[in-house]
Amino acid sequence: MVTFRRALRLDHMQSSSTMAATAAAARLRAQGHAVIDLGAGEPDFDTPENIRQAAIQALNEGKTRYTPASGTTELKQAIADYIAHETGTRYPLSSVIVSAGGKQTLFNALVSILNPGDEVIIPAPYWVTFPEIVAFCGGVSVFIPTHEHGFQLTADMIERVLTPRTKVVIVNSPSNPSGVVIAPDAIRQIAELCAARDLWLISDECYYKFVYPPARPFSAASLPPELRERVLVSGSLSKTYAMTGWRIGYALAHPDWIAEMTKVQSHSTSNPTTFAQWAAIEALRGSQASVATMLAEYQARRDWIVPALAALPGARCRQPEGAFYAFPDVSGVLERAGIRDVDFAQRLLEEAHVVVTAGSAFGADGYLRISYANSLENIRRGIENIHALIKRLG
Ligand SMILES: Cc1ncc(COP(=O)(O)O)c(C=O)c1O
Repeated sequence: MVTFRRALRLDHMQSSSTMAATAAAARLRAQGHAVIDLGAGEPDFDTPENIRQAAIQALNEGKTRYTPASGTTELKQAIADYIAHETGTRYPLSSVIVSAGGKQTLFNALVSILNPGDEVIIPAPYWVTFPEIVAFCGGVSVFIPTHEHGFQLTADMIERVLTPRTKVVIVNSPSNPSGVVIAPDAIRQIAELCAARDLWLISDECYYKFVYPPARPFSAASLPPELRERVLVSGSLSKTYAMTGWRIGYALAHPDWIAEMTKVQSHSTSNPTTFAQWAAIEALRGSQASVATMLAEYQARRDWIVPALAALPGARCRQPEGAFYAFPDVSGVLERAGIRDVDFAQRLLEEAHVVVTAGSAFGADGYLRISYANSLENIRRGIENIHALIKRLG
């Protein structure tokens, strides 16, 4: 039997804990258990009909061949038009790239800019993938805990951790996992700091549309040109249009950054799936009614789940202003039971058949990430089961 030795650069890479939770749920289901999945970062809605029809039409028209590695001109134009409509900013097509999901966009962006030892500022809690990509690139993640600031990030907090090696700041608003929306003024001040200190800002806006009133969607694409030129806006159709499996994401950035990302993409995946690109044009240009329907449904679920979580003995839960996650602090439960959040998540899976993700996966020990991208009925049953386990734990 030969021994496989992985590359050194993967020594510190962990498998995605959110994907692991979904796989664990599938295993339990295969054993015949009724599992309630509040772990997945995935809309429970089907891709809207008009988008599916556009893909079918594209297939029937033979749109099944390679496209330019960075995406078709037609889709780039649709993205540029969409962003112009949303923000008033018109990006040239040389500033647009289409990738196989926001994840690939972010991967290509960081691979294209980081040298070994470069520091990347990441507010915690953070999406699990950010530090993994940074580590893969030989970069160093510098985390800024935001727990005591209501998960808000300010330019001051960033300024305190800057070093001569700082190169990139990542913001993600609305945030996965906290659901926090960073105020436009705070984003502007962060962009100003980046401009003053020769830093680059990555704004991951994959939940951009899922913001609950009175909060309003805000994109760093609407910053003034002198700030915007240092910003890479990363977007995705996955959540907005319930298109997770279609793998369409995009970035808007300095044309030289986009050119480097295109180079990386041309030697890795090449173009994102051709007929999915044509469907994406329909998503961006067609009726937006489904987005409003999904947003209203998420809001109704949020309005139910947050008070229900806050009422659990030993739990506290702030109101998320965006995305579709609740992020309760369950340290009271954990202290009483003498366990860690990962143990609690494991016991919830095995004993209550509810999938959640432990906060420590996102750099926030003592929390749980609970996705409400599930039916209200399932959410209710899930919370009942969580409550029952908390009671059993004493
Ligand atoms: C914060 C954040 N960014 C980016 C992504 C990437 O999504 P996709 O690759 O499906 O576009 C996700 C998906 O969960 C996410 O939560």
